Amino acid sequence: MTGRYQIAFLPGDGTGPEVLAEGRKVMDALGENDASPWEVRDYPGGALYYRDHGKEWEPETEAAAKSADAVLLGAVGWPGVSLPNGDIAGAALVLGMRQSLDLYANVRPCQLYPGVLHRISGEHRQVWAPKNVDMVIIRENTEGLYAPTHGVLRRADETEVAVDTRIITRKGAERVVRYAFELARRRSKGAPEDGKKRVTCVDKSNVLAGCRLFRETYDRVAKEYPEIERDYAYVDAFTQWVVRNPEHYDVVVSTNMMGDIITDLASVLQGGMGFAAGGNIGDAHAMFEPVHGSAPKYAGKNVVNPFATFFAIEMMLRWLSEKHSDARMARQADRLERVLASTLASGTARTYDQGGSLSTSQVGDQVAAGVRAEKR
Ligand code: IPM
Ligand code: MN
Repeated sequence: MTGRYQIAFLPGDGTGPEVLAEGRKVMDALGENDASPWEVRDYPGGALYYRDHGKEWEPETEAAAKSADAVLLGAVGWPGVSLPNGDIAGAALVLGMRQSLDLYANVRPCQLYPGVLHRISGEHRQVWAPKNVDMVIIRENTEGLYAPTHGVLRRADETEVAVDTRIITRKGAERVVRYAFELARRRSKGAPEDGKKRVTCVDKSNVLAGCRLFRETYDRVAKEYPEIERDYAYVDAFTQWVVRNPEHYDVVVSTNMMGDIITDLASVLQGGMGFAAGGNIGDAHAMFEPVHGSAPKYAGKNVVNPFATFFAIEMMLRWLSEKHSDARMARQADRLERVLASTLASGTARTYDQGGSLSTSQVGDQVAAGVRAEKR
């Protein structure tokens, strides 16, 4: 890679701009004394933009997102603002880009860092051992129940029938399953339980035809990876196993809607949505995001947890390093991860969701200072 990586920030709505401002602080700190390896630019768009301008974003913004080396999305969505067809306003920036950039793998790491508390009822505590939670869930991101095949039958201004057709294709299943196996191959640690490399196929193939195709495809691809253990779970059973024995899981792969649900469930194991980062990854493009959403209730209060954004940036740097065989980006990702891990371990950077009282920007300042102090 010659020149600087072009990074498009799409802050979006609600708390999106607040967490991305902290993300920029941290990227600026990482870039100091490193000949500024990237150029970050903000682009407007989302639900509030739609409310005020009648469009979700400008054509130039869409073009910039397409031509950027990577995209970081804050969050989209605002109560009471929807598109004429009922979709959330701002969907173009998430669902639209997943389709137009063909970002077929939704990658959700679920790792619990020492010092991070979790909450299952009322109190914040650390009940399960951090070493037991270290998996990555891969969700198919372009088809399944999210395929744009939704439709309604309206008669005399009443919606009488609504249909969402679930589409599973051989190609769609194959590439996401392959992504999961390739990732399992690269991950050196394996599952916390036994150190084994394992890919778990989560589906409902005892009932659904699409899931049978998904599982058959999984089996076919798995043959190319004999060193990786095959593992299966029906999605309903998986929800209890992942809570009871998270240490069993290394890489998990599932279809779109099932993946959407199990990833949020699993985020409880890593301390909550305040730590959940996601990558939307295709062969040519990638978009990264904190997945907590625009959180209107907390918007403008400078209180939400910015760690998910920092982890999304770490994922982005690692993806750039792999895509461009750029060791410098890998070093920056490692450096950021060391700072995030040590800041969390210190227990000094807790926002309200962790039972703490620090503001979003205080946590950002602390992490940026940590980055400056951490050698490259
Ligand atoms: C996610 C989100 C999105 C989804 C929403 C914002 C459309 O929940 O990234 O998981 O449903 O995929
Ligand atoms: Mn979701």
